[in-house]
Amino acid sequence: MESLHKRILEEGKALSENVLKVDSFLNHQVDPDLMYEMGTYFKKYFEAHKITKIFTIESSGIAPSVMTAMQMNLPMVILKKQSSKILKGDVYQTTVHSFTKDMNYELTLQKKYINEDDNILIIDDFLANGEAALGAARLVEGAGAKVGGIGIVIEKSFQPGPQLLKEKGYDVYSLARIAKLGKGNIEFVK
Ligand code: G4P
Repeated sequence: MESLHKRILEEGKALSENVLKVDSFLNHQVDPDLMYEMGTYFKKYFEAHKITKIFTIESSGIAPSVMTAMQMNLPMVILKKQSSKILKGDVYQTTVHSFTKDMNYELTLQKKYINEDDNILIIDDFLANGEAALGAARLVEGAGAKVGGIGIVIEKSFQPGPQLLKEKGYDVYSLARIAKLGKGNIEFVK
């Protein structure tokens, strides 16, 4: 997505070889026009996948997801990050480890928002180690539903997530794919 590449180059800051800061349009301030355009790209790619619902992981995945859900005319569900297990039986939960933040959380979904006939598109802002996307996929499949695809805004192609998800057979579509980060240097996959 050309306009996303441009914004990453103009406003993104590589804080290290692993972390890209894009607070001015995605993670803190949000650019609605850019989010809408992301929605048009995700819609175009996943249109023929017979998706029934869009799932995202709070919080930065919400903006691109809602724009995609609106354009695909689908419901959207936010998977919550709880700090501990909920002992009532009305939720699905799975433990996710964040390498970037060095912490665990319980990814949580109310059972009433999924059923066995669902074919879910998972959308998230970053793909790094793939733990969040894999956690979301575990929840979906644990409920007996299918993962129809995974849409990512910024994939760090040099980290393990993209390969891991593809090896598991998921159809991953990323709007920007970063090959290399270094202080003051951002390179996209050619
Ligand atoms: P993974 O799911 O691919 O394994 O990634 P990881 O757990 O390592 O990522 C944890 C959090 O850090 C996620 O946000 C993810 O979006 C974010 N993240 C990972 N790499 C980068 C990066 O290079 N730049 C930025 N800005 N964020 C990155 P989160 O905890 O879910 O927070 P939220 O922003 O969605 O609330």
